[in-house]
Amino acid sequence: MITHHCLALLIGLLLSLAGVSQEQMPAAQQKEASVAAPQLLRKPYLQTALADSISVLWRTSSASRCALLYKPENGRKWKEISGLVNQKRVGGVENLVTIRGLKAGTKYQYRIFTDGQELQPDETFGFRAPKKASAPFSFYAAGDIGEPVENEGKPDKLAVQISNLADTPDFGLLLGDIIYPDGESEGYDLHLFNYFADVFSSIPTFALLGNHEWNVNPEQNFIQEWKLPGNEHYYSFDQGNTHFIALDSRKGQFYEFEEQKAWLIRDLEQARKKGYQWLVVLLHYNGKSCTYKQDTERVIELYPLFSKYGVDLVLNGHAHTYERLNPMGGAGEVLPEWVGNTTAYKNVDGFISITVGSGGKLRGIGSDPTPFKPDPQRCRHKNLVAVSMHDWAFLRVAIDGNQLQAEAISSLDGKVLDRFSITKTGADNEL
Ligand SMILES: [Fe+2]
Repeated sequence: MITHHCLALLIGLLLSLAGVSQEQMPAAQQKEASVAAPQLLRKPYLQTALADSISVLWRTSSASRCALLYKPENGRKWKEISGLVNQKRVGGVENLVTIRGLKAGTKYQYRIFTDGQELQPDETFGFRAPKKASAPFSFYAAGDIGEPVENEGKPDKLAVQISNLADTPDFGLLLGDIIYPDGESEGYDLHLFNYFADVFSSIPTFALLGNHEWNVNPEQNFIQEWKLPGNEHYYSFDQGNTHFIALDSRKGQFYEFEEQKAWLIRDLEQARKKGYQWLVVLLHYNGKSCTYKQDTERVIELYPLFSKYGVDLVLNGHAHTYERLNPMGGAGEVLPEWVGNTTAYKNVDGFISITVGSGGKLRGIGSDPTPFKPDPQRCRHKNLVAVSMHDWAFLRVAIDGNQLQAEAISSLDGKVLDRFSITKTGADNEL
């Protein structure tokens, strides 16, 4: 019969063979080894990358404690930090470690431990810490993702194309309808994490609620899967010279609309005072649109705020297609000077709204069988659409000072489907 002492010695031997010395093991983990070894159920994923901190989460079959070792990529000394464990309704135990005091823009490596056992010792995990305000950065955005592959969904292809990006994004945005059919926790590993393990372990993710997240109780599902800023329904964060605002548009009527709108105004006021060069609003529902979805009045109700505070981009999902609108003013009016002039914007006095809702689900495929063919000429809104195409797509946006470059990229083969840039000049645009 193997005693605890023997088992601890054996684990020590295995760790040393794997290149981990007892000194490198978290101190608290050295005392004894767990008899029932925890199994890794979900690989690590990065959350709340804010200023100089980042959270690493992973799931195990059991856990009484967890820890993480990390070091700069070119450093030699591992630092230890312990975390918290939290039994979940489904999907095992969440292990959560928050690292603070990161050096801006530095690449780090990390190793994860549960109950004294290193999980995935053969794999090198790494991330880049959030950058300082003056540094260029990029992000990806995708909506409507976790359609089962057996229903002809393509979350697997999307993950591959994000991994293939030559310039690794600093973070990713999931624009709602993350898990089909009902945003249920039971689907997260099956339809998302299994495909996105490499993406999520190296690129921090910010997720938003869509209408499918609201088919079930988000507190028991969506909120259990992610660690997000603020109340996790609506929140904001910064990267570089840009302020991002994520909203919960629920099923079009918004979660706590009045409170959320009041918060949005306060947040925009603060953002303006701090002088961010770019403002990006994220939500699941479109406002005006020429897709097969209706306009969403509550989003249009926010347009005057977007205009007043100088929002540059509004990114949404919901319609399973790709559509980029011409710049609009606060009344939702198309700014005529940009009609037909759609690739290189300069000092735009309006916001550009983009539907990128075909991350892993495309209208006319699988469980959503009605064919869709964009036809902006026959749209109820004249001159609204700059570019539309019915294709599997996600967005890549790169911001460098007063320059923003955006590309819609095919989730199938990585081809660029759409491209535009915005340049700002003038004293008002300095951070
Ligand atoms: Fe939706």
